Amino acid sequence: MIIAVDGPAASGKGTIARALAAHYKLPHLDTGLLYRAVGQTVLDRGGDPASALDAFEACDFADALLADPRLKLAAAGNAASVVSAHGSVRQALMDRQRAFAAQPGGAVLDGRDIGTVIAPDADAKLFVRATSAIRARRRYEELVRAGVATSFDRVLADIKARDLRDSTRAAAPLRQAEDAMLLDTSYMSIESAISRAIALVESRR
Ligand code: C5P
Repeated sequence: MIIAVDGPAASGKGTIARALAAHYKLPHLDTGLLYRAVGQTVLDRGGDPASALDAFEACDFADALLADPRLKLAAAGNAASVVSAHGSVRQALMDRQRAFAAQPGGAVLDGRDIGTVIAPDADAKLFVRATSAIRARRRYEELVRAGVATSFDRVLADIKARDLRDSTRAAAPLRQAEDAMLLDTSYMSIESAISRAIALVESRR
């Protein structure tokens, strides 16, 4: 069984994808990490994420960074959102994601274009969303707990800028696949969002 989980930043898609993977005992790939690793590699090499050449070259080196804790920070997220708009970068990362999805037994992948591009034949597709204010509140509280100095307004502005870039780019923009099931987590606890996600996947089995 292949499960595709897509949605904007801080919608809860990562938590839901991990919980689904644990529930169905399937391997899980957070595809955002691949783009974050490419973005961070460009920054480390002193390049410009907006340069298609710098970003494409970074794809060869990004694997070394996959466990780097800096990938969780806003700098890597913002660089990821810029490098991910280059078609050449998306192409370079595609085989790896498709190979992961094609494992015998199946897999859970989360990202922006899993249901639309990477695994259009997935058995179950979820599109997870929440209002930008609620997503910013969640992300802000996470950062405060991690001891990162920031403000709510800054986090909200970052999230809105990332939403805009991710949904208006020409290459594989963020959008709900026609056959994806919508899960709005705005007013749900993590526990209810997970139970609802399992119920939705069950409805497609
Ligand atoms: O999900 P996460 O916030 O880690 O993703 C970082 C960025 O990587 C996103 O803002 C998006 O631009 C890009 N991304 C993508 N396609 C994916 C996963 C992430 O374009 N499948």
